[in-house]
Amino acid sequence: MCGVVGYIGLEDCATVILNGLKKLEYRGYDSAGLAISETAGALKVIRAEGKLSNLEKIFYQEPFEGTRGLGHIRWATHGAPTEINAHPHVAGSIVLAHNGIIENYRELRDKLAALGREFSSATDTEVVAHLIDSELKSASSLHDAVLKSLAQVEGSYAFVVMDINEPDTLVVARNAAPMVLGRSDTAAFAASDIPAVLEHTRKFVFLHDGDTAVLTREKTSIFDVSGTPVERPEKHIQWDPISAEKQGYKHFMLKEIFEQPTRIIDTLRGRADVEAGDINLGEVDIDPEFLKKVNRITVVACGGSFYSAMVSKYFIEEHTRIPVDVELASEYRYRKPIIDENTLCLAISQSGETADTLAALREAKRLGAKVMSICNVIESSIPRESDGVLYTHAGPEISVASTKASTTQLVALSMLGIWLGRRKGTLSAEQGRSWIEALRAVPTSIEAVLTNLEPYKDVAKTYASASSFLYLGRGQQYPVALEGALKLKEISYIHAEGYASGEMKHGPIALIDEKMPVVAIALKDTVYDKTISNLMEAHARGGKIIALVSEGDRSLSDTAEIVIELPQVDERVQSIITYVAVQLISYFIADLKGTDIDQPRNLAKSVTVE
Ligand code: M6R
Repeated sequence: MCGVVGYIGLEDCATVILNGLKKLEYRGYDSAGLAISETAGALKVIRAEGKLSNLEKIFYQEPFEGTRGLGHIRWATHGAPTEINAHPHVAGSIVLAHNGIIENYRELRDKLAALGREFSSATDTEVVAHLIDSELKSASSLHDAVLKSLAQVEGSYAFVVMDINEPDTLVVARNAAPMVLGRSDTAAFAASDIPAVLEHTRKFVFLHDGDTAVLTREKTSIFDVSGTPVERPEKHIQWDPISAEKQGYKHFMLKEIFEQPTRIIDTLRGRADVEAGDINLGEVDIDPEFLKKVNRITVVACGGSFYSAMVSKYFIEEHTRIPVDVELASEYRYRKPIIDENTLCLAISQSGETADTLAALREAKRLGAKVMSICNVIESSIPRESDGVLYTHAGPEISVASTKASTTQLVALSMLGIWLGRRKGTLSAEQGRSWIEALRAVPTSIEAVLTNLEPYKDVAKTYASASSFLYLGRGQQYPVALEGALKLKEISYIHAEGYASGEMKHGPIALIDEKMPVVAIALKDTVYDKTISNLMEAHARGGKIIALVSEGDRSLSDTAEIVIELPQVDERVQSIITYVAVQLISYFIADLKGTDIDQPRNLAKSVTVE
């Protein structure tokens, strides 16, 4: 939920760290801090409440230099988002920045307070800084003190620590929170995510849970949970650094909406075998014999990823005849789920770090399920703990509201459906072929949607001042209605509800009056006639209908205030197109309202707390 950047090298590093934090702003943005310590005993720390720009302002008023430092961008968990609670925290000679939550910090705090330690902040992090500082007295090095401290710490953490009296070292530790290490010819870096330092290096090492690392100007040494030196493989990351920038779009969200055709192609690349009507999932590394025997799929996910799972229930069940249970990860882990040896647990997550999804995955594993994940962030926690992983290739998603990650999840789920259907014998080669062809045609259809943004801007102009929206859909379009409502809430702060069209008459119809815009998804699919009847019920109560219809369908011209025609595509992939439409409605409404679209209030990109 927070972002950390550490640097030790030969160059002045304050701007390297500040620029790195800028790339991590999506992880948190309620306060930020920077600490530089180059020579023994020297330390300069600045911290600021609010966005990173506040910290930069302070820095540029009185810049300082140094070749070792660390920075932090915070999303508060313990203690209000104030300057005093901002990281880095200093205790004695220890300077520390942390992402995660220390679960036993109260106990540690009491213990340290009894030894005369005084705390200036309300954070769990400061407690760890004091703990390391107190361990330092009997330790042989900073790393030794960190190891001794971690043995007492419970919780999740990704730390960068420095001791002002040991100027040639940065120590890093990771447990259940992301941390990558990078190295260029002149420096070593530690960061919560790759884009933070991608402009300086493409060589990365991913720490495992329990790992610690000692970074010096010359070398990086990694140790496992027992403190034994280990080798972790170095990976070469191909991302273009500017792919993490806005590239001229007003917001990352808009940029990411426009990236969808390319990202869908990337996700299909090398996996779809049109001729065989099959999908090559060799990379997934899960026993194919097991997958053939699967008789139940339990999907665990949160937020937007949960809605992707709900969409997939329709097509996976229809084409594989395997029952699919879609479960909110936060609920799943606290009930008593039923799992047998032929259950596949599928965890879906863009970030791969969502605490609830990770915990649900662990629970399913504990109960004996095989776990597969669909994820966008390589080597993040969820894929690393899965038996097999199918990566979406959406690239880094910066906007808090998920767009390209969601549609590539739908593509990955379709691929899984085809693969399973072919192995189960419920999907012929011809059906597999036509499904793959439908998927391959999706990018062109999305491009067609993106060439005419006027209808979405019209919706915004007409309804941006509404206080509530209703989204209706049926069949696969029901979860799209939920997704549309979620997206609108997230970025425009307008209350919105998604409903299955057929459910409307059982309650929400009471809400409808002439002030209520109703986004009705009414495509020419198998439930078209039913959907139209439900939409008429809303119209009869004065609801202002915004209809998403199939291209050429003029039948709602008299009923709807605004009709948006969408390319007619194969029903199995239709929700990918409607996802884009609901994304655009939310985006233009939020843009007109002037909200902070990429970093909406109270939200963070990666929800690493329960
Ligand atoms: O990284 P994940 O896919 O696990 O995240 C799950 C949700 O937090 C996420 O989808 C959230 O709902 C998005 N902001 C939706 O736009």
